[in-house]
Amino acid sequence: GAPVSQDLSKLEAGQMIVIKYRGKPIYLVKRTKEMMDNLSKVESSLADPKSEGSLQPDYCKNNSRSKDNSEVLVCEGVCTHLGCAPGYRPDVGAADLGGSSWVGGFLCPCHGSKYDLAGRVFKGQPAPRNLPVPEYSISGTILTVGA
Ligand code: FES
Repeated sequence: GAPVSQDLSKLEAGQMIVIKYRGKPIYLVKRTKEMMDNLSKVESSLADPKSEGSLQPDYCKNNSRSKDNSEVLVCEGVCTHLGCAPGYRPDVGAADLGGSSWVGGFLCPCHGSKYDLAGRVFKGQPAPRNLPVPEYSISGTILTVGA
């Protein structure tokens, strides 16, 4: 499919927008500093914290699963269990997501799989792998998926 571009200049910290690439929803989240800091706190609770068994470009094989460890997360909004679209749940401490230990992430509405804000799935969820990260590039404020 042809690459898809999106201007990120209007994306606010903590906000998610969804674009389409090859018929799939792609989640774009501009993570806050707190969200970035929380990524290292949940690692012991994750199924694949280093993304060894998950799909992403080599340049996203880091703790934030983003190019240059940027605050911008780019991932497929497709649950690795049976393909539902996980909901964005950035609210820290959400009672229905484990109370004070929940530091924000994604919740799949179909069978409850939980992911962190790098799209990494927690242990013991129906989903086996982290949300896939597509190839992308960022030039200035322009993000291009499929580059
Ligand atoms: Fe997401 Fe089953 S499709 S948990």
